[in-house]
Amino acid sequence: MIKVIQKEETYPLRHHILRPNQPFEDIVYSTDDDANTFHLGYYLKEQLVSIASFNPEKLEDYHEKCYRLRAMATLPEYRRQGYGSLLVRQGIRILKRNHVKWLWCKGRVNVQGYYESLGFSSHGEPFDYPTLGPHIVMKRKIHLPITFREAQDTDMPLIAKYRLQSHFTHAVSSLSFDVNAYYRRLNNRFLQFPSLQLMVLLDGRVHGYLGLEIREELEKSYGYIHFLYLESFYQNQGYGQEIMNYAIELFKNKSLDKVKLRVKSNNQQALKAYKKQGFYIEMEEDHQYLMVKKI
Ligand SMILES: CC(C)(COP(=O)(O)OP(=O)(O)OC[C@H]1O[C@@H](n2cnc3c(N)ncnc32)[C@H](O)[C@@H]1OP(=O)(O)O)[C@@H](O)C(=O)NCCC(=O)NCCS
Repeated sequence: MIKVIQKEETYPLRHHILRPNQPFEDIVYSTDDDANTFHLGYYLKEQLVSIASFNPEKLEDYHEKCYRLRAMATLPEYRRQGYGSLLVRQGIRILKRNHVKWLWCKGRVNVQGYYESLGFSSHGEPFDYPTLGPHIVMKRKIHLPITFREAQDTDMPLIAKYRLQSHFTHAVSSLSFDVNAYYRRLNNRFLQFPSLQLMVLLDGRVHGYLGLEIREELEKSYGYIHFLYLESFYQNQGYGQEIMNYAIELFKNKSLDKVKLRVKSNNQQALKAYKKQGFYIEMEEDHQYLMVKKI
């Protein structure tokens, strides 16, 4: 479980993992006392297994709001189990809500791959950090630019995976998911509305899917969102709203004045988000709400 923790709670792990051969005082940073610094820890039952600290600090001459990630460490026996990433991802969510533009760190070159897996890229050349060895500055944009591209047949397995994932999260059981039947339905949509099947790219990489259709009702057409999916790491950060706005603009450009979607009645998170975006429930059928919004 991720918790916001006190600076003192991070010290034993900082010392044990990051600076075992240095005096304990060395693991206390002046930035720890900044009122806007926060520390995250991953607790497995009573045991703290991973820590990360985030403090406001400029990256060179960047004028946008920057934070620095420091003292990132996971106990050796708990590494490669996703705990470190969970902390950084949670930190990024918090920073995004606070309009921070960049997160950066001085990373050890031997764990450069770890930071890259979290979307960081290197900034400048490696350098020697006194007593600790080679380091490199890594940086990551907090808000990633969204782009879209038309989905291709080769994207179908990924879309099916997303669909299965959303079933798994929101349905009682994922056993009812028939992959082959889903492929057939998807294939029909690809044939009928090729330009409305869109892969969602964040910073140039695919992280979601937006599947749209145009449907008829009393001889009037309306836009229909049959599936919007964003990988879990990127949820709850405002990207969903941006994608929805894109879909609405696309429908408006086709002179449609209504958009509809279905949401499982037990998917409280999505239901809340859609209501906030101006959708209202038109009817309930088969444990789903049909929601509509005038555009
Ligand atoms: C770096 C560190 C914090 C990573 O923590 P972690 O909890 O093991 O990280 P995760 O399990 O979330 O790793 C997620 C992904 O990052 C990548 N990754 C993790 N450790 C890596 C490493 N040492 N080298 C390259 N890639 C790595 C992998 O892609 C991994 O996914 P996978 O296990 O499915 O392949 C941990 O290895 C550690 O404490 N190391 C020693 C202290 C240290 O170097 N801290 C950084 C100071 S700059």
